[in-house]
Amino acid sequence: MRHAPLVASAALLASVFGGLVTQHQLQPTAASWHWKLPAHFKAPRIPADNPMSEAKLQLGRRLFYDNRLSGNGTQACASCHFQNLAFTDGKVVSTGSTGEETARNAPSIANSAWNPTLTWANYSILDLERHMLVPMFGENPVELGIDDSKRDLVLQRFRGDPDYRARFARVFGPGAEAISFAHLIQAIATFQRGVVSVNSRYDQYLAGTAVLTASEARGRALFFSEQAQCASCHSGPTFSDQYADVTTSVVRTPFHNNGLYNIDGKGAYPEPNRGILELSGKAADMGAFRTQSLRNVAVTAPYMHDGSISTLAAVLDHYAAHGQRSPLKDPRIDRIHLDDQDKADLIAFLETLTDEELLTSPRYANPFK
Ligand code: HEC
Ligand code: HEC
Repeated sequence: MRHAPLVASAALLASVFGGLVTQHQLQPTAASWHWKLPAHFKAPRIPADNPMSEAKLQLGRRLFYDNRLSGNGTQACASCHFQNLAFTDGKVVSTGSTGEETARNAPSIANSAWNPTLTWANYSILDLERHMLVPMFGENPVELGIDDSKRDLVLQRFRGDPDYRARFARVFGPGAEAISFAHLIQAIATFQRGVVSVNSRYDQYLAGTAVLTASEARGRALFFSEQAQCASCHSGPTFSDQYADVTTSVVRTPFHNNGLYNIDGKGAYPEPNRGILELSGKAADMGAFRTQSLRNVAVTAPYMHDGSISTLAAVLDHYAAHGQRSPLKDPRIDRIHLDDQDKADLIAFLETLTDEELLTSPRYANPFK
């Protein structure tokens, strides 16, 4: 049970979000916000009770980088989500504020507004607000470590800071009560929704302002081909078949086994990382994970849910070899055919998905530096 995925208890949800209904007068309207997106992206869905605004995004940005958001004051969200690594941390798995290791590799937060489910394998976490209960309050493992004994202390740190008081007042209304966990969470969720990666060289190519080299162009054609199969799972603007925007009326949330493990001849994955089986208990869900976005993938090593593949070349070797022979593997993995030139071209294409604006924009950077 140690790493069982956190399904927030009713009591935790009520204590964090319970007061929300009454206190929204100052929240800006969605109309004051404009997404700046290329034509191949449509606006993401935004919860009606947490509309976007630049002031809220900037408040959320500070909180995202602020170590005072952990029980012992040593870690922030940004401790495991670094901007220069597209908001991943470069580690196999992450280490929380009290030294415990996470079960899985830290994914990017960029474009998470379009993800209909969050984390590697959890169909019950459907929005960024609910997801945040995991790093903040989760105990298996401890990440930010805000346990019951630390909750008031953490809020007092922010309530005692005049800069935060002014920023919260501007967005959520005056008074100490405006500095609540529900509002902290809403602000950080707004920051995360605003962290978009839509300006890679590939996006510029689609907009007609950049050209691809011969190898990148071959890689692109391969990526979308039957021969490589990649785009049958890594599809759409985020390169994942889990995707939702304002125009998507039916949201599918598939999970796939891409043949990473077969430790018992029947397709088993090592505990505690057995995909959505951990939640559903269904044998057929063994090894089923969300198709990971490939945006900025050249800077997000190591790869896969457990960080077990260290380079893109090794990922391509995995797919070219069809992963493990497993009865639970998605059949498309066996249809992949790649020679050495194909692998090199695919890597060249994947490298065009790096978005320097995301990695360097001051708008997303640590405000305390
Ligand atoms: C100790 C390291 C650590 C800290 C601190 C941390 N995270 Fe994460 N984050 C992770 C790991 C590991 C995962 C993957 C979890 C999983 O799949 O089980 C993750 C997943 C996520 C995701 C899901 C992304 C997706 O594509 O589904 C988001 C969003 C996120 N974190 C935001 C945050 C925010 C906001 C905070 C601060 C409140 C935070 N994280 C603090 C390590 C961390
Ligand atoms: C059947 C669906 C499917 C197909 C086909 C597929 N993938 Fe994946 N891919 C996934 C899933 C699911 C994961 C996450 C698996 C895990 O972590 O256990 C993944 C993970 C990855 C990762 C790691 C991303 C990260 O951030 O860790 C890369 C890179 C990748 N795939 C590239 C490709 C390429 C290139 C192709 C084509 C040669 C391809 N995939 C074909 C489903 C697929």
